[in-house]
Amino acid sequence: MIYLDNAATSFPKPEPVYRGMEEFVRASGANPGRGGHRRAVEAEAMINDTRRLLARLLGVPRPERVIFGHNATDGLNMAIKGVLRPGDHAITSVLEHNSVSRPLNRLEQDGVITLTRVPATADHLIDPDEIARAFRPNTRLVALTHASNVTGTIQPVGAIGRIVRERGALLLVDAAQSAGVVPIDCDRDGIDLLAFTGHKGLLGPTGTGGLVAGERAEVRTWREGGTGGDSTRPVQPEEYPHRLEGGTPNVFGIAGLREGVRLLLERGVESVLEHERGLIRTFLESLERPERLTWYGADRVIAERNGDGRVGLVSVNLSGFAPAEVGAILDEQFDIAVRPGLHCAPYAHRHLGSFPQGTVRLSAGILTTADDMRRAAAAFDEVSAG
Ligand SMILES: Cc1ncc(COP(=O)(O)O)c(C=O)c1O
Repeated sequence: MIYLDNAATSFPKPEPVYRGMEEFVRASGANPGRGGHRRAVEAEAMINDTRRLLARLLGVPRPERVIFGHNATDGLNMAIKGVLRPGDHAITSVLEHNSVSRPLNRLEQDGVITLTRVPATADHLIDPDEIARAFRPNTRLVALTHASNVTGTIQPVGAIGRIVRERGALLLVDAAQSAGVVPIDCDRDGIDLLAFTGHKGLLGPTGTGGLVAGERAEVRTWREGGTGGDSTRPVQPEEYPHRLEGGTPNVFGIAGLREGVRLLLERGVESVLEHERGLIRTFLESLERPERLTWYGADRVIAERNGDGRVGLVSVNLSGFAPAEVGAILDEQFDIAVRPGLHCAPYAHRHLGSFPQGTVRLSAGILTTADDMRRAAAAFDEVSAG
């Protein structure tokens, strides 16, 4: 099988991730912090070690501000519902995944907040000046994707972070498609809140992810419950990470995530990005008739600028075929897994002009090879030739 759906979840995982999970859960899978016995202490130490590694990878000065939850969606909900208050205004963009759009739309529909959705440029970028223009006196939050899961474009979060900070608001970055693939420095780039998912570029298993909650953000408690620490308090503790981490965490998953993050720190995120961008270029260059595909501008950037400013995914369409049809043919006749459709990002597809059918998305991963891409290109050529 050729797996080109790494933007949905990375697969397969690198061997150390499988091994690390198995070794940890066989040796020590206790409930962290719940009870003073050695196994519980080991589980807590493993989780805190993973926090430290993530803090290093993401440029977070205080590891206790790395909060574990189920996935990026969980982190985004924690942030959006945890910082916005009645009467606030929020700014977002047309490139967002539903895990940003839906919680914001819900708050807007319920009359809690007002919302501005800024457009993207023809190159699928969010212009920092557009963000500056959207500000109102009551703007509290700017919520943006770092790398779009539809267009693959990387947004200028550093420039936007400066604008947001100057105006005293908070910047929430959805790093679902960038953590582990694009260098991130929350401290340098003025990122107050960063939602990450553990099972894509961070190479861990599903059911891991969460939120980085920076010092400027006052995030209200989320899932209230046991923390394994001081049980005398009638309400959730204020301190991080316990403020946002009620309940038993995904210990098995975090043990795998730790190995994924370790591997990324050793290899270097820049090298992963270069590898994945190079693979998309191989796909483009291996096609006999690339002009049969609609590229939404990506072919230009891949060919002329080596994919600069993009992650290793591309959305295409094949004329005469619905995206779902291409996905099914690739799956059934070529054993190639891609993701057709709207990718949970309807506004992004409206922006591209590909709504409601969507596109076919190919996404490379750390273990994808050039040969995988050449075979995918050959399959596209065969399908388009009829
Ligand atoms: C840009 C973006 N944001 C958020 C998410 C949600 O991630 P998860 O399903 O892990 O919560 C995804 C997943 O595809 C995504 O691509």
